[in-house]
Amino acid sequence: KKPSGAPDSALAKPVSKVGVIGAGLMASQFALLFLRRLEVPVVITDVSQERVDKGLAYIAQELEKLVEKGRLSTDDRNRYLGNLSGSLDYAAFANCDWVIEAVFEELEIKREVFARIEQVVRPDCILATNTSSLSVDAIGANLEHPERLVGFHFFNPVAVMPLVEVVRAAKTSEEAVATAMKVAKNLKKTAVITSDSAGFVVNRLLGFLLGEAMRAVDEGANFEKVAKAIAPLGLPMNPFDLLELVGLKVGAHVLDSMHAFNQERFYASANLHKLAEYGKLLERDGRGKIKGYDPKAIEIV
Ligand code: 3HC
Repeated sequence: KKPSGAPDSALAKPVSKVGVIGAGLMASQFALLFLRRLEVPVVITDVSQERVDKGLAYIAQELEKLVEKGRLSTDDRNRYLGNLSGSLDYAAFANCDWVIEAVFEELEIKREVFARIEQVVRPDCILATNTSSLSVDAIGANLEHPERLVGFHFFNPVAVMPLVEVVRAAKTSEEAVATAMKVAKNLKKTAVITSDSAGFVVNRLLGFLLGEAMRAVDEGANFEKVAKAIAPLGLPMNPFDLLELVGLKVGAHVLDSMHAFNQERFYASANLHKLAEYGKLLERDGRGKIKGYDPKAIEIV
């Protein structure tokens, strides 16, 4: 059994350049956080220039919003943008000390990404995965140095949610865990070390909650009824709003992974896949405020 406490912080490696693989919803949000809190160069990549450009544009836009709100100086904004780059060429990751991925939640895709990354980074570069429901050891199984892979699981919205789960898999080295803990501290996140078990801690609970909420809807209760029934629990968001926040596709996929882990405990909803295909569950006004549930989404279920 692996130790459950935090390793000696002296084992942490310095991080002076960060690589982010993926430029989607989660990856762009944490790339922005690395820029702001670590103040180091950050390079991002994805499968197409279009996706990379979308990620870069998101980061620039979020920085602009902070400037407009008076929370960030233009000098800082310019410095962060100067530290940001995008590339389709993995060679751009050669000098990174910390490379983290948030590509699609599919074991083979993540394995392929790390196999490619391992060819270009230095032997002492720490690799991290933002996986939410796959085994970190399984992701690293084909690596030459699986000990340098650690789980580093952010929550949406990354800028606001205080927690990061640091996953200490069976093969993860104490240097990798210590580096992850230091990175989390520098990002001003609370880090919890978890074992490499399906859903770690948070998604075990969330997977159950979201799955049961979908089961209730699938069995005939409507979205509004379930949301109203659960409101007195005082959650910051009801399960359906939360599903839309994490992304219906991601949510459906996470529930499938949890269901594969334990079919009795976790419900995988076919209707959630149909909703993901349709693309939305909520209806919003012109300013993005939630008005209610989309009539077509209600029809789908
Ligand atoms: N990006 C950046 N900042 C955001 C944001 C976003 N997407 N959404 C909200 N914020 C900021 C706002 O700017 C505001 O900041 P300020 O107080 O400094 O001005 C602050 O968050 C509060 O926002 P609002 O006042 O607009 O709204 P709320 O008070 O309703 O809070 C919320 C919004 C923080 C999203 C809250 O509803 C919440 O905590 N929801 C639960 C989120 C959650 O459970 N996330 C976990 C998802 S699971 C996951 O990600 C794991 C994956 O593996 C599935």
